[in-house]
Parts: sequence; C-alpha cells; structure tokens
Amino acid sequence: MAKSKIVYLCSSCGAQASQWAGQCGDCGGWNTLSEGIPTATPATSRFSGYSGAAVGTVTRLSAIKPDSRMRTSVGMEELDRVLGGGLVAGSVVLIGGDPGIGKSTLLLQVLATLSGEFFSLYVTGEESQEQISLRAGRLGIEGPDIRLYSETSVERIIATAAREQPQVMVLDSIQTLYTELLQSAPGSVAQVRESAAQLVRFAKQSGIAMFLVGHVTKEGQLAGPRVLEHMVDTVLYFEGDPGDRYRILRAIKNRFGAVNELGVFAMTGSGLKEVTNPSAIFLSRHEQAVPGSVVMVTWEGTRPLLVEVQALVDQSQSGNPRRVALGLEQNRLAMLLAVLHRHGGLTLGDQDVFVNVVGGVRVSETAADLAVLLAVMSSFRDRPLPSDLIVFGEVGLSGELRPVPNGQERIGEAAKHGFLKAIIPAANKPRQAIKGLDVTAVHRLSQVLDKITEAF
Ligand code: TYD
Ligand code: MG
Repeated sequence: MAKSKIVYLCSSCGAQASQWAGQCGDCGGWNTLSEGIPTATPATSRFSGYSGAAVGTVTRLSAIKPDSRMRTSVGMEELDRVLGGGLVAGSVVLIGGDPGIGKSTLLLQVLATLSGEFFSLYVTGEESQEQISLRAGRLGIEGPDIRLYSETSVERIIATAAREQPQVMVLDSIQTLYTELLQSAPGSVAQVRESAAQLVRFAKQSGIAMFLVGHVTKEGQLAGPRVLEHMVDTVLYFEGDPGDRYRILRAIKNRFGAVNELGVFAMTGSGLKEVTNPSAIFLSRHEQAVPGSVVMVTWEGTRPLLVEVQALVDQSQSGNPRRVALGLEQNRLAMLLAVLHRHGGLTLGDQDVFVNVVGGVRVSETAADLAVLLAVMSSFRDRPLPSDLIVFGEVGLSGELRPVPNGQERIGEAAKHGFLKAIIPAANKPRQAIKGLDVTAVHRLSQVLDKITEAF
C-alpha cells in the first residue's frame, strides 16, 4: 500500500504541522503534536471550492423507517440491557477495562452464543490461537462456527474480513493493531486513533457489528485517550476488583440506549455468569456493626443497588492531611468535609480521611453525599452506626439535604433487604408508610447529626 503523506496534528487545537515539535505553533500547547493523516482544509467562501465533488443523496427523516430486526439479542440479558436492548448491526462497541478483568472471556462467550445464527470472526493480536482454544475449552465452548484470525495489521484485517464476511467481529485488542499508513509503534495514540477510525468506517459500510477491546491505563483512561470514545457508538467499561468475583459492565456512552446502565457478572471457574438480581451482592455482612461503615442505595440505570461506604479518619502524620476517595469523586469529598466542618461543627483539619466504596463499585451520583458524611463521622467518633440503617441524599453547600431521583424505589429496595431504619431527604419521604421501615425524613444536615448523636 502506498504510504500517504504524514503530518503532525495538535490534539488540543487540531492544527497541522509538517514537522514534529515539542510545542504547537498555533495554540502553544506543549507535547500535543502526534502523527496523523492530513485533513482537507475547508474553503473560505460559503459555497465555493466544493463544486468538484460528487453530489450525495439527501433523505427526509420521516421517510426512514427504523428496522426492528437490526437488534440481536446476544443471549445474555445483562449484556443486552447494557447495550440498550441487544446488538445493533453495523455498530461499534468498545469494551474497556483493566487487564485480567474478563473482556476476552466475555466476548468469546458472546460469540459462542451467537454462533448458531451468525458468522463470527475473532481477531486476536494479543493471544495465540492456542491460548484462545484453551480458554474456550475452559468455558465449555466447542465453537465450530467461531473463526479465529491472528493478525495485527488493520489493512489485512479489513481485507480478510471483507472476504470472510462475518456478521459479528471481535478485535482483541485495539492497542495491538497498527495501520501501515503511520510509522509509529502499535499502541501509540496516533496508531490507536487511525486504526479505530478505519475499522469504524469499515463496520458502517459493511454492517458488521464490531467489538473493540481496549486496555485501560494506570490513570483509569482508555489508552489512546478519549479519542476512541468519540469514534465508536457504545463504550462499555468493566469495573470491579480483579481479585473479587463480581464484575460490573457499565455503559458510559450509548448511541442506541441509556447510559449508566449496569450489567453484573460473576467470574466463575467456567467463565462469566450473569447475576440477574444483584442489588445486595456488594454488601459485606459484618458480624456486628463497625465504625466508619454505612449502607446506601444507589441508583444505576434502571435498578437500585445497595452498597457499603466505608471511611477511615485518622490523625495525620504529616502537615498536609490526605483526602482519598476510592469509587467516589475526590473533589466532592473535599467539599463534603468543608460542609461537615461548617454545618456540623466537626473539625478534621488535622486528620487523614479515606473513603471507599466496597467491592470496587463506582458511585458517581450525589446521592452518596449523606453516606460519605455519616461514614466519616462514625469513624472519627469511633462509634458504629446501627447496622440496620440505610441512608441516601445529596448534601448542599448550605447544609441542606436535597432530594435524589427514584426515592420511593430506593427505600422499597432497602426494606426488601431487611433494613429497619432510613435517613433520607425530606423531599424523598414516601407518601405511604413502608411496613417495617422507620423512615426519618430530614431537611438539614444538622438534624441528621442530632439524630445520630442521640443514637450514639
Ligand atoms: P480475560 O478474559 O483474559 O481478561 P482480559 O481479556 O480482560 O484481560 O480474563 C482473565 C481472568 O479471568 C484470568 O485471571 C482468569 C479468569 N478466568 C476465570 O476465573 N474463569 C474462567 O473461566 C476464565 C476463562 C478466566
Ligand atoms: Mg484479553
């Protein structure tokens, strides 16, 4: 294949340069230039300069009928839901996650389920065919219809796929692929971006449903920054502690469905198994109530999930106390501690504060605020909160408790799992009393603290 001209593109302003430099000449950004393919510069006047190109067809929106057959169930309800109701032909799904979390396992299982009806092609750039065969043996998959292909050149992959004409294709992983158009090493930002762009174009043209596997860097981002996320239709992240058996698949972006939808799986000796009723799996059942721990109900996509928030507050050994949030937002923790100082009278200026959500779960909603504050307070005072207590609610800067969506359903879920007490924002108070659950609906943080101090 003829090598096309290479230019250097600035990742922050998009400027093109013919030579690499440490600083972008246009926006002055440092270390932003990376290899790329030149893009055409648009003409300056409104309609001039476009006359040479062939003219395309324009369609009225109302004339397009959505094709319901486009969606295919992948045979796993948890994955179907995260995909927005099944796999769409011609769509590109990016699956990201830490090494060893189960990306290859999940996709091999999906291909096995689909193999009766669909031709599939598993392109591996990472593992040998023998390794995949070993894994398939472990999963109990015979898979006569799954075709394997070891290759890392995008051009050859596309040419082969065009000949084989699969309906579903897996590329494991995007970081091992390279395009012959660029000279940089596989895995570099430019290579990942260009390889993905070619594959996405091919998927759209051919109607092949494509799964791209992407590794996550130590900073928790898909290697080959966020550019990949913009190109594909759906981005799914595998979360969870690789040492733990539960894995969460979360939709971060989905052009065909809702985001933040969760799928829960358990890694077993014979592959990933669906967990269809996951609401309480992340609770660590303590023998007795322990300080610094509180259970909250978080709302993920369309389902409630009970999770335990833990805090450890300890005298700081340095002049600069640490504030560490795992599974929660770091800045939010700093804000909540300020609210606790100002409206709760608790001074933690000389204390290290660590907060963690048990089970490697990520909680991004503000409903965790109250749980964080109570866990911090409980650890600081070294007094346990009642183990049958459940909380949720957003805390505002003026110390007020703000309502969160789906309050009624959250409380219902807690009652179902045997919790007896709830502290929630006043505006979330259920209209009808819930049997067996003592609900305390509060307006301000200070009321919560009074209530808890009584309990201590
Ligand atoms: P893998 O799918 O290779 O992870 P990724 O592609 O995301 O890097 O999963 C690897 C882990 O899963 C590995 O530590 C072994 C474990 N595993 C099981 O526990 N049971 C199984 O049946 C399989 C296939 C893997
Ligand atoms: Mg893998």
